[in-house]
Amino acid sequence: MKKIIITIDGYSSCGKSTLAKQLARKLNYTYIDSGAMYRAITLYFIQNRVDWLSTAAVVEALKNIHLEFALNSLTGLGEMYLNNENVEHLIREMIVAEKVSEVAAVKEVRDFAVAQQKKMGVRKGMVMDGRDIGTVVFPHAELKIFMTADIAIRVERRFKELFEKNKNVSLDEVKENLELRDYIDANREVSPLRKAEDAIILDNSNLNLENQLQLVMQWVEDAIMAHTS
Ligand code: CDP
Repeated sequence: MKKIIITIDGYSSCGKSTLAKQLARKLNYTYIDSGAMYRAITLYFIQNRVDWLSTAAVVEALKNIHLEFALNSLTGLGEMYLNNENVEHLIREMIVAEKVSEVAAVKEVRDFAVAQQKKMGVRKGMVMDGRDIGTVVFPHAELKIFMTADIAIRVERRFKELFEKNKNVSLDEVKENLELRDYIDANREVSPLRKAEDAIILDNSNLNLENQLQLVMQWVEDAIMAHTS
């Protein structure tokens, strides 16, 4: 069967990565979490006290950042490595979440990440999720999905996820962080979060995972059909 590129963009915590993993497993595609790259860059900036408001400091720091996704053979999923260190768990912590949207708004940071993401798409058979994948990274992708869900549902989902690892996290803190990130992501100058004109909207507020996958698999089949011939 013809392999395609599937892009999934949308707001924070509406389940983009869950859907991307479902699709990658079902279709035997590669899944790339573009947010992990911005999170890893943010982690480096925090650890090395890089002032991301200074273009010169950012340009210099990016020279020392090597990002790579390496497969975890147990889960079958790629994990984020920053300068050869596995940072998959560290980058999910609140300290990174609090700063990542500021860092991701910096033009030089985006140029750095987007150039690497574009290269990864040379081979088709890929699902990538993020904020600008359908608009900037793969504007010619065969299937583009724009995800959304009620804010209360998104907050609850992310809270549960974070609370499992850290009992000190509060619901208010998670809500504030999601709202702030959505605001910064949608209002930044460089490639803001936008629905691509040809993206299909998926509101999964009331969809269970099974129904979600069923629905999207139909879109995948349609996209493959439309691009074969
Ligand atoms: O928390 P969630 O899983 O929704 O976010 P993420 O996908 O891990 O992305 C973290 C942050 O990185 C976002 O809030 C954006 O600021 C930034 N990002 C971006 O600007 N462009 C992308 N393609 C992906 C993420």
